[in-house]
Amino acid sequence: MGETKKRRGGPKSVADWGETAPYLRITVDKATPTVGAYVSGADLADADDETVAEIRRALNENCVLFFRDQHMTPDQHIGFGRRFGELDIHPAAPASGEHREILVIHADENSERANGEEWHSDVSCQPEPPMGSILYMHDVPPAGGDTMFASMSAAYEALSDRMKGYLQGMTAVHDGAHIYGAADFSRRNDAAFPRSEHPIVRTHPESGRKCLFVNRGFTTRIVGVPRDESDAILEFLYRHMEHPNFQVRFTWQKNSVAFWDNRSAQHRAIWDYWPHRRKGHRVTVSGDRPF
Ligand code: SIN
Repeated sequence: MGETKKRRGGPKSVADWGETAPYLRITVDKATPTVGAYVSGADLADADDETVAEIRRALNENCVLFFRDQHMTPDQHIGFGRRFGELDIHPAAPASGEHREILVIHADENSERANGEEWHSDVSCQPEPPMGSILYMHDVPPAGGDTMFASMSAAYEALSDRMKGYLQGMTAVHDGAHIYGAADFSRRNDAAFPRSEHPIVRTHPESGRKCLFVNRGFTTRIVGVPRDESDAILEFLYRHMEHPNFQVRFTWQKNSVAFWDNRSAQHRAIWDYWPHRRKGHRVTVSGDRPF
């Protein structure tokens, strides 16, 4: 038990990685010691530059941020996303009316699937996967429909030094075809199913932290080792990174926003609310090539 605690614990809070300056514009309350924070004092539809800078810093420190009672038109949502970089257009999902930058997240009594039911980092099959995603929830079911998030820097830190050494320099294939080839994602005429090779351990370009970067949703194999070794190592990593110590679970309310960092976090949407309806809009911020 003692050994398990030591291995799983990792850095207990961002303070373990260094002191952080106080926030002047926003209030940041940690949801768990390791991952996730509730942010108040920010109006995302009309945030000034200092507030945006503090949100960026809080995102780097906490992997995912939660906001309540936000009111944004689609254009304001897109505008908020653009404060953090170019916006990513999904390679395969059906476009949302006149707003190509908005991905509609929707499930109801007629749905055969719901977005993001497997642990994943958004569109990690792209050569330059998204930096972050901003989901604004419009309709929530009477109960359920939470999203789980997990810190991939905490998961990396908790690996043994031997496993860290083994993974050093290794790459894995992330393939969109087996996800986007299914269901309504293949209905778009110009749908593309990217396939890319990424380092298994990536360095976060802003915080410098090392993060595990393989996921059950997109990663199909480790490059340069036999298939059975690849399957076994990936399964070990998935089970390791899915340990509850690295997780936070967010319960949505109408008009909640979650802003997650796809470079340092994975997430999983829980479809436990059928036949009820859950609907939101996601704006996705472009990222760079993992290194
Ligand atoms: C996703 O963007 O993967 C969906 C997340 C959610 O519906 O909670």
